[in-house]
Amino acid sequence: MSQKKSKLSATNDISVNTILHGNCVEFLNSLPEKSVDLIFADPPYNLQLQNELIRPNQTVVDAVNDKWDQFDSFAQYDQFTRDWLTGCRRVLKDNGSIWVIGSYHNIFRVGTIMMDLGYWILNDVVWHKTNPMPNFRGTRFTNATETLIWAKKSSNQKKYTFNYHSMKNLNEEKQMQNVWYIPLCTGAERLKVNGKKAHSTQKPEALLYRIILSSSNTHDIVLDPFFGSGTTGAVAKKLKRNFIGIEKESKYVEIATERIKNIPPMLLDFDLLVTPSKRNLPRVSFGQLIEAQYLTIGQTVYSKSHKYSAVIKADSQLKTENFTGSIHKVAAKILNKSAHNGWDFWYYEDGNNKLMCIDVLRNKYRQDFNLV
Ligand SMILES: C[S@@+](CC[C@H](N)C(=O)[O-])C[C@H]1O[C@@H](n2cnc3c(N)ncnc32)[C@H](O)[C@@H]1O
Repeated sequence: MSQKKSKLSATNDISVNTILHGNCVEFLNSLPEKSVDLIFADPPYNLQLQNELIRPNQTVVDAVNDKWDQFDSFAQYDQFTRDWLTGCRRVLKDNGSIWVIGSYHNIFRVGTIMMDLGYWILNDVVWHKTNPMPNFRGTRFTNATETLIWAKKSSNQKKYTFNYHSMKNLNEEKQMQNVWYIPLCTGAERLKVNGKKAHSTQKPEALLYRIILSSSNTHDIVLDPFFGSGTTGAVAKKLKRNFIGIEKESKYVEIATERIKNIPPMLLDFDLLVTPSKRNLPRVSFGQLIEAQYLTIGQTVYSKSHKYSAVIKADSQLKTENFTGSIHKVAAKILNKSAHNGWDFWYYEDGNNKLMCIDVLRNKYRQDFNLV
């Protein structure tokens, strides 16, 4: 295993912002156990192309026919897949997650092996290419998608990072779905050497942006065992994450090193890089709002439409004609549900008789008491 490192820094005994030159299976077996927060893997597709692809104008299509994509048999490909996925599971922290991308040629084999090894699939995400290559012969549908599998280490893993609100904000305040419309990597973003594509399967940075932003935090370590042209490292640097790349071809190590070196370090404030999640905000109970007299005993709170109302008790419970309970229990009872978030349900009248959500008061409390 040859090792060419461009070491920039170290985090807890592990060198980060570095590209390891060699076979990922060997490196994955030598990296410290449970040391990385997120893995993105774009393994060989095992395309098994039988013939050259020719366009109608007789030019040859620039297909993926690289040596690194060739395996003697499905059995050999499966064994390789098992080996690197086992290594990834070993180096992934217990609260980490992994993304693997593939096409119809390999993703089903990869998915089966992931499940056999104990990974637990969180989502399959379809990357819908907005500018796919046509099916030149007209013998099949245009292949316009690749599939990403997002998984955690095991079914009983409780915690993993999902920056739900960052994704919702990116999607104009609507929940992000698992179909992503992103163009292929073309134009200025496509790295070239002597006018030719530097790497046959360079992924668009937009794809990695969504993956890294959704499932890691600033300063986390993102590992990519098939680093190629270094897309993962480039985006990690832009989003203030650390990266470890592994790549067996020296020409790609050089290209990726140069690419990442040319990206200025991210010096922006933490605030600009994260979306505060309600889950991470300091806890404030409804009772604290009453103790601090943001709301008073005997005050009426309402549902948004004014249809339902309840009165606040000294112990912070709400009393209606028929039942008494916490803000959540009373909201759930009214809605005939097993549970409901009372912070979104109840409103109070401000000084101008305008209805305001009680969650606004909770935020005000956090600010007034310097909790955020
Ligand atoms: C599909 S490409 C990844 C492209 C990359 N995501 C990008 O945006 O440029 C797969 C890469 O894995 C590398 N590779 C293949 N087998 C490998 C192995 N056993 N260990 C390390 N790298 C390997 C290939 O040289 C190739 O660059």
